[in-house]
Amino acid sequence: MAGEKTLVGSIHPDVLSFTAGQDVLLDRVLVEADCIGSAAHVTMLAALTPPLFSADERTRVIAALVDVMRRDRRGEFTITEADQDVHLAVERALTASVGELGKRVHTARSRNDQVALDLRLYAKTELLAMIAQAAALAGVLLDLARRHERVPMVGRTHLQPAMPSSVGVWASAYAESLLDDIELLQGAYAQNDRSPLGSAAGYGVPLAIDRALTARLLDFERPIHNVMYASNARGKCESIILNAASQVMLSSARLAEDMTLFMMPEFGYFRLPSQYCTGSSIMPQKQNPDVFELVRARSATVLSCASRITGVLKGLAGGYQRDLQETKAPFMEGIRVTRETLRALTLVMAHVEVDAAALARGFSPGVFATDRALALVAGGMPFRDAYDAVKAGLADLEQQDPTQAIALKTHEGAPAGLDLPSLERRAAQATAFGDERGRRWERAVADLLAIPYPRLEV
Ligand code: ARG
Repeated sequence: MAGEKTLVGSIHPDVLSFTAGQDVLLDRVLVEADCIGSAAHVTMLAALTPPLFSADERTRVIAALVDVMRRDRRGEFTITEADQDVHLAVERALTASVGELGKRVHTARSRNDQVALDLRLYAKTELLAMIAQAAALAGVLLDLARRHERVPMVGRTHLQPAMPSSVGVWASAYAESLLDDIELLQGAYAQNDRSPLGSAAGYGVPLAIDRALTARLLDFERPIHNVMYASNARGKCESIILNAASQVMLSSARLAEDMTLFMMPEFGYFRLPSQYCTGSSIMPQKQNPDVFELVRARSATVLSCASRITGVLKGLAGGYQRDLQETKAPFMEGIRVTRETLRALTLVMAHVEVDAAALARGFSPGVFATDRALALVAGGMPFRDAYDAVKAGLADLEQQDPTQAIALKTHEGAPAGLDLPSLERRAAQATAFGDERGRRWERAVADLLAIPYPRLEV
């Protein structure tokens, strides 16, 4: 059987289909990144002495790349199986529109550094959006904490009533968790902020290319220094990003589990307006908190995406291997699911209603036992003796005013010692991080393409 003709040789159709795999679909997300990366590459080739593209040739190639981007946005750009992936599809389109010039664009570059670059450009904007979304969720939780800061809520260990606490402590605990997760996302952003372009197949090229220039044009902090490491970092960077996203999902899932629990009528602490719940096809009365249940389950999806990536990397020899292509699907899925989760959870958490009376009913006399023992300690009794004394008299413990009990916990981070403004500042900084870098990226692309970006129209 004759092979199918491709830009890189004749390939048996079954081999082509098996090896292209999901790329024909997944790479549609990368068209814009691929074009922007090529614009930077050609700009660098035009800046060499002697230049490999004249100024006019560079302008023509960039115009053709912009045309591909516009067609892609209209849904008119296709990646065929014979293309195998976005890189060869764009090269085919370029050659169709600017002829010989299109055939020269791949000079001093390999699909290996190209795909690594595309994924980093894709990850750059996704990470910035994810950071902004995580900051928005933290912000909603901090609003909730502020509105109900001193509303008493039983603190639980082993899910059993433990000590007096507050809605402020509960809600801002998850906010602070997300703020720490955002630091991981920012750390992942910093790792992602290095350009693999120009490492070519992973071993450089015998031409005096300027990798720092392409890095600058694409708003990267710098190139990845070692060409082989630039190739080996494929998958590693994705893994770092999904590990950070996994923490976001874990924070979200634990919050979601608390919500499903405390929305049970037996607790009744929190309620959601019906439009944020779903109903049942048979039981007319049902109002189910499905969003929280799916947040819980989708944390497993993201964790498994992260582990699919490390599974591919584990024990993989150095240098490019096609195995790496298989990290693309879980990477994109993990990012998509994390972002969808943040979006839904932020929406729903913004509408949580708090029932202070139901929360107050959760306080039994036993919840004050430790406070009682510590009051005895304040009077000079060793803690273990106070513990024994309170334990011996548990049956006689009296109900106390939980509002007073939490007012006595004034140290840092306790119900009466919450510094919500400092957490709000961290959330605002995270938002500014995303905004500032997002604008810088758009400016860099606009300069490179010499047209307004992201608008793409003059
Ligand atoms: N689609 C490929 C991938 O994701 C692009 C790189 C192909 N490189 C190669 N040497 N076959 O890995």
